[in-house]
Amino acid sequence: MKILVLNGSPHVNGATADMVSAFRKGAEEAGNEVIVIQAAHKNIRGCLACEYCHEKEKGVCVQKDDMQEIYPEILSADMVVFASPIYYFTFSAQLQALIHRTYAIGVPENVKKTALIMSSGDKFVYAAAITEYFQGIVEYWGVENTGIFTANGDENKSEKKRQELYRFGRSLQEEK
Ligand SMILES: Cc1cc2nc3c(=O)[nH]c(=O)nc-3n(C[C@H](O)[C@H](O)[C@H](O)COP(=O)(O)O)c2cc1C
Repeated sequence: MKILVLNGSPHVNGATADMVSAFRKGAEEAGNEVIVIQAAHKNIRGCLACEYCHEKEKGVCVQKDDMQEIYPEILSADMVVFASPIYYFTFSAQLQALIHRTYAIGVPENVKKTALIMSSGDKFVYAAAITEYFQGIVEYWGVENTGIFTANGDENKSEKKRQELYRFGRSLQEEK
């Protein structure tokens, strides 16, 4: 299975990235191809709501920034994992911008599974992000949620979380 991870943290060695690495290790060992995109280090502008993608060239975004290299990765993925630190009780702006820009391509028909990985300082700060994930991704895309993983405070960069994410990745068997 081709798994695309969209990490919205600007910290390439941060707490979110730590969970993503453990997930990646397990998923690759299980025979999957894993591609990680550091969304915060890409040039991804906000959606202009110009409707070019619906009215002029269907499925094509008028903005020629780094989303042009990300669209084919989303469209060819079997699974998309959203990963983000919690900023003001939701996803980082960088991940939000990427999600908004999928407006151009609509529902990616090849994607069958998703998962969510989040890091935060405090507990009980995930409600808005989880609502967005379920309504905007799982239900709107019509895909299977395979898991939601969170780490807060001392759990960040902990061996316990690494094991949890590794096991999750390892459980995703290559589909023939
Ligand atoms: C702009 C900003 C907003 C944040 N907002 C929250 C918040 O609302 N709740 C929370 O628990 N932590 C918040 N945090 C803390 C981060 O979620 C936390 O440090 C996280 O582990 C960072 O992950 P990273 O190392 O992958 O970037 C915020 C951090 C920043 C920089």
